[in-house]
Formats: sequence, structure tokens, C-alpha cells
Amino acid sequence: MPVRTIREYPDPVLRGRAEDVTDFGEELQSLLEDMWETVERYDGVGLAAPQIGVNLRVAVIGWKDRKIVLVNPVVVEYEGEEILEEGCLSAPGFYEKVARPERVVVEALDEKGQAFRTEEKGFLARALMHEIDHLEGRLFFDRISPLKRKFLKRKLEKRVEK
Ligand code: NI
Repeated sequence: MPVRTIREYPDPVLRGRAEDVTDFGEELQSLLEDMWETVERYDGVGLAAPQIGVNLRVAVIGWKDRKIVLVNPVVVEYEGEEILEEGCLSAPGFYEKVARPERVVVEALDEKGQAFRTEEKGFLARALMHEIDHLEGRLFFDRISPLKRKFLKRKLEKRVEK
């Protein structure tokens, strides 16, 4: 089942801290395959494993010619600030301006378990922070003003009730 269903807020799977990956075997490889298929099908930039109901610290980001696999990522440096509109496949149709660092350095493992370090600016820095937030159970609207957040959450919850 390559394309997986995307979990949407307020699904509780989006709110926990995901667990470290320790096994780089077939299960992880097929999870990654599914994640790439899913993010492409939904025309997203990035996807974190909790968004398809898998509680692991895994995320993928595909933008232009870049394809980044993040396993157990850690933000080791960040600086600056940029405010841009952001959305999320787990809150479809909603966009808000979110402040993010302008530059980040992330250390992670790749799909084979090899450590790497990547330094990104601008849009990709934002995408990295957004996906790593997912692994901590944070969504982009946790980083907007409380009033806007309340409004947005209410709209999202209402949609699910229908
Ligand atoms: Ni997202």
C-alpha cells in the first residue's frame, strides 16, 4: 500500500514525541518508499512519519532537485528569522505566517543509518524545522499568535466533526 492516508489535526498521533529509529532494515526502507509516494501524490514538500500514523523519527523533504531523508534529526544550530506563509498536509487548506530561523544546521542519519550534517537557508531551512517539529508533536500553528491559533484549531475541529 504505497500511498498512505494522511492523518489530520486533531488526530492524537500528530501530538506525541516520535521514537528514535534503531533498525535500518526492510521495514524502514518500505516506510520511506511509501512516504515518498505519499508526499508526491499529495503534492507536498515534506512529510513526517507521524503524519501517516507511524510514531518514528523519520521525515522526507523533496524540493526541486533536493531529496532529503531525515532519520533521528537534531537541530544543532539556527540563526536569523524569516516570516513566511506556511501550510501542512495535516491541516489542508490552512495557511498562516510563521516565523522560522533563516538558517539551520541539522544532523541526522540517512536511510542507511549514515550520519550526515546539512546546512540550509530560507525555504529549505523552514521545511526542515517544520518536519522536525512534527517529530516533537508540534504543528505549524503552535507557532502563531494564540488568538489566530484558537480560531484555526476551531475551524479544523469543526471540519472533523462534520
Ligand atoms: Ni506538516
